[in-house]
Amino acid sequence: MEEMPEKRELNFVAIFIALLLAGAAIGAMVWKSIDSSPGYEVTKKKISPVELIDFRRNIEQMVLSHTVRHEGKTPIVHPPAGSDIYLLARHHDWGKYILELEQGKPYRLHLTSLDVRHSLVVHKLNLMNRIAVGELITVKFSPAKAGRFELRCGDYCGPQHHNMIGTIIVLASHASVLEKPESSQ
Ligand code: CUA
Repeated sequence: MEEMPEKRELNFVAIFIALLLAGAAIGAMVWKSIDSSPGYEVTKKKISPVELIDFRRNIEQMVLSHTVRHEGKTPIVHPPAGSDIYLLARHHDWGKYILELEQGKPYRLHLTSLDVRHSLVVHKLNLMNRIAVGELITVKFSPAKAGRFELRCGDYCGPQHHNMIGTIIVLASHASVLEKPESSQ
């Protein structure tokens, strides 16, 4: 029985390969689970350095045109329902403004990264999108819940990753305000 050690070696190789494949499959599933916002329409395309400059101009324009008030020094930006809204991810913030949206109204949220890979995660609004460098993600969505929500980063992006926290405000729609007995007094 001189073949036995060789066979055993082959078995080990087979088991090793099987484990690798299983690991890759589980990894892909985990990856997929935070790769797109469930229930929303998500599109991805490449963004060139020139388009990134335009993206930053769009942010400046949005903040200039739609700042409605300030919280301390931070502008609260209330873009019209149905409009294009922007977040530029960078280590370690989401931009120095707070987006204020309206519940149930549609928006086109454009996302890209300035430096490394990040992920936008707003659990309560069902937003979960990986933001790779050089990629423009557009999420067509309508915030279903009203409130004040944290924008979190779901991908380790550097020593300040855990401080990469932003805020998004969603105002209750008129109808749902009327429905609440405590606010109709
Ligand atoms: Cu951005 Cu972690």
